[in-house]
Amino acid sequence: MDQSKGQQNMLYMLVTGANSGLGFSICCRLADEFLSTHPESESLTIIFTTRSARKAQDTIRGLKAHLHETSPANTARIHFVPESVDLGDLVSVRALSRRLVHSLPRLDAIILNAGIGGWSGIHWPRAIWGVCTDLIHQVTWPSYKLAPVGVLTAKQTKTEEEPALGSIFCANVFGHYMLAHNVTPLLKRAHINGPGRVVWVSSIEGSCKFFNIDDIQGLRTSAPYESSKALTDILALTSNLPSTAPWSVESFLESESELNTHAIHTDAPDASPRSYLSHPGICATSIIPLILPLAWAMVASFWIARILGSPWHPLSTYLGACAPVFLALASQAKLDAAEEPYHQAGGGRAKWGSSCSRLGVESPASTEVDGWGHGGVVGTPVVEADRVRRRKRGAEYLTKEQKEEFEELGRGCWKQMEELRMQWDEILDQAEARS
Ligand SMILES: NC(=O)c1ccc[n+]([C@@H]2O[C@H](COP(=O)([O-])OP(=O)(O)OC[C@H]3O[C@@H](n4cnc5c(N)ncnc54)[C@H](OP(=O)(O)O)[C@@H]3O)[C@@H](O)[C@H]2O)c1
Repeated sequence: MDQSKGQQNMLYMLVTGANSGLGFSICCRLADEFLSTHPESESLTIIFTTRSARKAQDTIRGLKAHLHETSPANTARIHFVPESVDLGDLVSVRALSRRLVHSLPRLDAIILNAGIGGWSGIHWPRAIWGVCTDLIHQVTWPSYKLAPVGVLTAKQTKTEEEPALGSIFCANVFGHYMLAHNVTPLLKRAHINGPGRVVWVSSIEGSCKFFNIDDIQGLRTSAPYESSKALTDILALTSNLPSTAPWSVESFLESESELNTHAIHTDAPDASPRSYLSHPGICATSIIPLILPLAWAMVASFWIARILGSPWHPLSTYLGACAPVFLALASQAKLDAAEEPYHQAGGGRAKWGSSCSRLGVESPASTEVDGWGHGGVVGTPVVEADRVRRRKRGAEYLTKEQKEEFEELGRGCWKQMEELRMQWDEILDQAEARS
């Protein structure tokens, strides 16, 4: 990509895992919302990742077809750029980071969507009983998914001794963490929508109850997916706290060395990137692989849950893309206004989910988090809509002690993540030096 005047009015956004499900819809929705909210003088480049050339081709064809259908007169303002990365392979993450850093002038937002469930099956008797007797709860916070314990990634380098790296942890959290760290210099140069944004894609299922600080990679739990999403929540929600910054967030956001020599980055880095947390609600995708009749049964149960009043069943991935796209694209003033009530009441970041009414009208909505409540506010939620939204059974309003524990957990997680990143950066450096 060459540097030209036109680039000054160009937003650059990266979406991982874009060939299917939510990732594809995030790209579509980014394009649609950008065209309807940004002035004609501005354009958007969406860099999307897949894991093969074939998937990249199919995806770009699909995205262009979508754009031609929804905005035939404006296609020139949206550019789709395919990229490839396997987040379970840190060498591949490093290679993508380098390509981005050496070809883009900046990044306005990265949406860290790619992910795996890693489930091995479903406990059918429990699932059938649960869905028949307690539908909304069981199709929102299921208790019947089965996962193997301790699954590791393939070896990352030819080094004989390598620390263990959990497969789900790496694909869902650590690969993205390394990527976000590596492209920080690009995020620091964002200027159209305010500071660059790291938009994490979590799940409504992420809960500290599945997370153990002594097993950050989820290698000893039978719920490694839920553990990875809880870690995502903890990292994003505590990313702007003064208590985590000196420990690790500051070093996570320092990665200038490679860029200093590169001619494309003539402007100085500006504000630090900000982390935001989203989840898509529950959407019908192939993240849980099911044979067709069972997939239909799943969609039917999601529909019924929505009709019965679940606020978290958008079903369609386009509706599910609402919250991540809001966090990536909204003006900084709009984002700050959305989180202002929580800040005013002594809280901080909220977990923004794609909520959906019975009639299929979607909106980003704060989601209650175990140990963090709504936006880290102690006691009764301060936003009326949060007070009346259907809650997880057994949820309790946040106490001062729980909030302190969550902040302490955040400090511990950031510290461990930074130690792990430095350890792996060194391993990758040594492997490169040897090759
Ligand atoms: N669907 C839901 O209801 C739901 C609910 C909560 C959260 N989420 C989250 O939403 C995100 C997207 O899920 P989805 O439902 O859209 O699932 P999906 O249809 O299975 O899509 C997952 C995407 O991630 C990519 N991916 C998986 N492992 C990867 C790796 N190691 N490296 C690079 N890319 C990888 C996949 O690429 P390949 O095709 O090459 O595998 C695919 O593009 C995930 O983070 C998921 O946890 C989904």
